[in-house]
Amino acid sequence: MRDPILRIEDLHIEFRTSRGVIHALQGVTFDVMPGEIFGVVGETGCGKTITGLSVLRLLPRSARITQGNIRFEGVDLLKISQREMRSIRGGKISIIFQDPSTSMNPLFTIGFQMNKVIREHLKFSREKARERALTMLAATGLPDVERIYDSYPHQLSGGMLQRAMIALALSCEHSLLIADEPTTALDVTIQSQILQLMRELQQKLGVAMILITHNLGVVANMCDRLVVLYAGRVVEIGESRSIFENPQHPYTRGLMSAIPAPGSRGNRLSAIPGNVPIDPGALKGCVFAPRCAFVMPRCLKESPVMFHLSKDHASTCFLAERGDLF
Ligand SMILES: Nc1ncnc2c1ncn2[C@@H]1O[C@H](COP(=O)(O)OP(=O)(O)OP(=O)(O)O)[C@@H](O)[C@H]1O
Ligand SMILES: [Mg+2]
Repeated sequence: MRDPILRIEDLHIEFRTSRGVIHALQGVTFDVMPGEIFGVVGETGCGKTITGLSVLRLLPRSARITQGNIRFEGVDLLKISQREMRSIRGGKISIIFQDPSTSMNPLFTIGFQMNKVIREHLKFSREKARERALTMLAATGLPDVERIYDSYPHQLSGGMLQRAMIALALSCEHSLLIADEPTTALDVTIQSQILQLMRELQQKLGVAMILITHNLGVVANMCDRLVVLYAGRVVEIGESRSIFENPQHPYTRGLMSAIPAPGSRGNRLSAIPGNVPIDPGALKGCVFAPRCAFVMPRCLKESPVMFHLSKDHASTCFLAERGDLF
């Protein structure tokens, strides 16, 4: 059995707000194996982005990690210096955000920005870095890469810019790529092209990828394993196939019935009534109980623990524990 490239263990994150402390993440645990695509799924506000940002120590100032640890290639990321963290960011782990305009600086050309990152992390000469950037741009299927290299971000379409972002994120021989809703801002037809491209490049380069999305349909096609988060907690985790064939948590079921049909945007989860609680830390019992169609008296009083159905599939639901298939 190989060691995981990333191990997140019992991670707790709090936000200090004017209305008090919000317990945004409560005991999230998962491993990512080298070379795999690992999905992080859940509705808006359930903690997907802050989980990704915590790996790079890029959480907003109002956030605090109060418990847990994050190990990357055996190194405890929460204990290393800022300087060591900087060399891991970009060099070993990179991130693609939902909105490329937050990652590309509008004042500099695509080529300038790629060149700088590649020189910094791979210690390449300016000329060699340019070659590398052009190769990576071409690998994403962009035409006329010399022109794109000299373009400013606003001169590219959304889809072209997202391809350039992927080229940038993959140009430094990383071992882990975190992609946070990498295609949500794009047209549906372009979305599937970009996802396919990411998968192809990911396999070719052998990089591990965390794919963050609210769309379980995306995960079904892409991921080897996945975790379903609800209100800052893991509700189901395991091999994608096992979860899709035999979901063990009512929330996962709800997400599955909300998978948009091809061609629709389908961002609303109409299949699950109610909303994610604002401060899940304040709830007693199972965090999903207030919205659960299968709620039992016990669910309002006790917090379910992780129940393992098999080596590769676990869920935090009393029904899964009882072996009841609902
Ligand atoms: N800047 C912030 N200030 C206060 N609380 C925050 C802040 N950012 C996030 N949170 C809290 O953390 C929770 C998780 O936020 P996060 O951005 O990780 O959600 P998400 O799952 O990525 O949602 P989305 O699908 O909308 O991107 C939020 O519900 C909120 O309670
Ligand atoms: Mg997010």
